[in-house]
Amino acid sequence: MCGIVGYLGDGNVYDILIKGLHRLEYRGYDSAGVALVDGNGEISVFKTKGKVSNLEAFCADKDIDARVGIAHTRWATHGEPSDSNAHPHFSGDGNIAIVHNGTIENYKLLKDALIQHGCEFHSETDTEVLAQLIEYIRVTNNCSLLAAVREALNQVVGAYAIAVVEKNDPDTIIAARQSSPLVIGIGNGEYFLASDATPFVEYTNECVYLKDGEIAEIRRGQPLKITTLDNQEAEIDITKLEMSISQLEKGGYPHFMLKEIFEQPDTLRDCIRGRVVENGTRIILNGVNDNKEKFLNAKRIIIVACGTSWHAGLLGRYLIQDMCRIPVEVEYASEFRYSKPIIYKDDVVIAISQSGETADTLAAIQIAKEAGAFVFGISNVVGSSIPRETYSGCYIHVGPEIGVASTKAFTGQVMVLTLLALSIAQLRNTMSQDKIAEVGNHILRIPDYVEKVLKLNDKIERLSLIFTYARNFLYLGRGYSYPVALEGALKLKEISYIHAEGYPAAEMKHGPIALIDQEMPTVIIAPQDHLYEKIVSNVQQVKARGGNILAIVNEGDTVISNIADHVLEVPVMPECLTPIITSVPLQLLSYYIAINKGKDVDMPRNLAKSVTVE
Ligand code: F6R
Repeated sequence: MCGIVGYLGDGNVYDILIKGLHRLEYRGYDSAGVALVDGNGEISVFKTKGKVSNLEAFCADKDIDARVGIAHTRWATHGEPSDSNAHPHFSGDGNIAIVHNGTIENYKLLKDALIQHGCEFHSETDTEVLAQLIEYIRVTNNCSLLAAVREALNQVVGAYAIAVVEKNDPDTIIAARQSSPLVIGIGNGEYFLASDATPFVEYTNECVYLKDGEIAEIRRGQPLKITTLDNQEAEIDITKLEMSISQLEKGGYPHFMLKEIFEQPDTLRDCIRGRVVENGTRIILNGVNDNKEKFLNAKRIIIVACGTSWHAGLLGRYLIQDMCRIPVEVEYASEFRYSKPIIYKDDVVIAISQSGETADTLAAIQIAKEAGAFVFGISNVVGSSIPRETYSGCYIHVGPEIGVASTKAFTGQVMVLTLLALSIAQLRNTMSQDKIAEVGNHILRIPDYVEKVLKLNDKIERLSLIFTYARNFLYLGRGYSYPVALEGALKLKEISYIHAEGYPAAEMKHGPIALIDQEMPTVIIAPQDHLYEKIVSNVQQVKARGGNILAIVNEGDTVISNIADHVLEVPVMPECLTPIITSVPLQLLSYYIAINKGKDVDMPRNLAKSVTVE
């Protein structure tokens, strides 16, 4: 939700900001803008509706010379995407410019008070309220920008990551964070500022993740200074980045999404590395080993997550209940936070989030912590808020996921949940050693199996042509394949804008069966598991009503293959590992259907990769 970039140094300010915005465009792309402070201390703001490329075109004939600058790519919260609502926003007298990621909840109250004091507003955003408030305080109290920012933030309720520059001061950026991410890159005589580290990874590998309630003073030629909202000096923890520039590029693929789908054999290898040892007979997950008591004593596990991560969570329930015999509840984080949840001290709450920044998931974590539960995080982005807010956890290690539709993060999450279930089972002795070894052995081979599944690419591309103009899709699965059906449907709708519903296959007869006709493709995920016979009946029920079936089956399947109109065959796996294998063809199917429809798969409309607002 919105990306922020800032730069102070002797490099080309505009180029660094624009390149950084492109890297953060996954966070929102309905408008973009830059504020540039030149050597005379003049601030120029250039901003426009649309993507960063529109901003570049807009700036083509502008004077973009600068000594310091801040920039923003927006995902609208307050006010429609438009030139005037785009960031940066000026204060009324044009003395300061600000970019902001987050939402100011009490903005209406503050705005009304500022209007009473004669302020005029030029946008519908909550951000402009903050700009005007800072300036109002600065003038009224005759104080420094830093003091005015601190005072304003003490009056604000909500989430923010902000960067502020001031007229007549081309040597300073003031930045602050509360519940929205902000990281400062420390280079040689230069500073970078961004919502994540990707905009500056080629310039420096040293950075500082700002914490909630901290304000950074970034001044040319001076060491970084961080204070808190109550003006106490804060410690500066320098982190070394382990990210490479090649991870942020398309590497010859036309889209990040396709690259990320094809990366899965490697990302799964990275995810498993060092965690499945002794030929697959033993699982080592430090987050579990370091907290044995918590997992031994847990009476219940609650999983909280959103979107694709929630689908991974549903699979987590099947895995943990199957392998560890612990009851598991899976909640949408957004509902959990307002459902007056009953949480016990011996509950383990697992929060799953690719970005590690999802506001609803962070709020659910807070509630679980307040109730005294042990909170464990599963994230991808190293150093993001969720790993820092949880007591323990593990990374999925799949590298930066840039395509807005989650693919490699989903399979990484499912893999980590499988390892988590196995290691808890090891600890609680709920699975035989032989069974653990059987699954562990297959896990070691999963990357090769996924490589094999990816060979279906050409067939799926051809098949996608048949389905491109369908208006509705039904995705069906049972047991472990039910969350895969939900995830397949979500992938299709978010990038192709075709309506798709995922259902447990047996539920179909309780309503959705009424929809079935030749016009509506039904995708059935039907590996040979303990529910295979049952799903055969479901397939027959769809066929009997003239449905058009695409089935994902195991190699060698003869029954469903004879009923379905189209089949995609995937390798045979132990049941608990099938979701990783069966979800990959569905990712490719969605990708090609969206491409056939001419959609922007990496930046689908209305979406953003990191949902840092409620
Ligand atoms: C779908 C997708 C979203 C995210 C959801 C949660 O492809 O990407 O549904 O899964 O917004 O995001 P994280 O995992 O970052 O908490």
